[in-house]
Amino acid sequence: MLSKRIEEMLNDQINYELFSSYLYLSMSAYLSDLNMNGYAHWFHVQAQEEKDHAMILYNYVVSAGGRIKLAAIDGPKTDFEGIREVLEETLEHERDITSRIYNIVEEATSQRDYKTVKALEWFINEQVEEEENAVDNIAKYNMLAEDPKGLYMLDKELQARVYVPSPLLANQA
Ligand code: FEO
Repeated sequence: MLSKRIEEMLNDQINYELFSSYLYLSMSAYLSDLNMNGYAHWFHVQAQEEKDHAMILYNYVVSAGGRIKLAAIDGPKTDFEGIREVLEETLEHERDITSRIYNIVEEATSQRDYKTVKALEWFINEQVEEEENAVDNIAKYNMLAEDPKGLYMLDKELQARVYVPSPLLANQA
């Protein structure tokens, strides 16, 4: 069984992952509007992955005998000052997610809820990748921002990202 506090934190995290999906979809829409179709696609895939993250947590709460309590999802920002701002806000947002995951792990550890700690290990690893991707996107953009041809090629490269459902959800489609 999950303690009330852990159940509440996991429900909050489900909400935050869904908000993340909403935020990245909003960024994708903004980037489509700039005709940066590769960037728009990359963020569309990112939005799908965030929904997966919510569902992995959802499934864990159910399997651990907890109650799911879905709440309203905040509206994301819809306007940005350009690609750089989108990329920088992405890194900031991913760091925020990492810190929220760490808070749950800390609470679960203090409660000796090692089942939840173990379930969140996947998220700790995922966040390393998420932050690396965000840093990488900023670095590449900074390198090519002033070079229209380079930016065009970069946008093409981002178009190649393929959505792969998490193996943790593979049997539940
Ligand atoms: Fe669900 Fe981008 O972390």
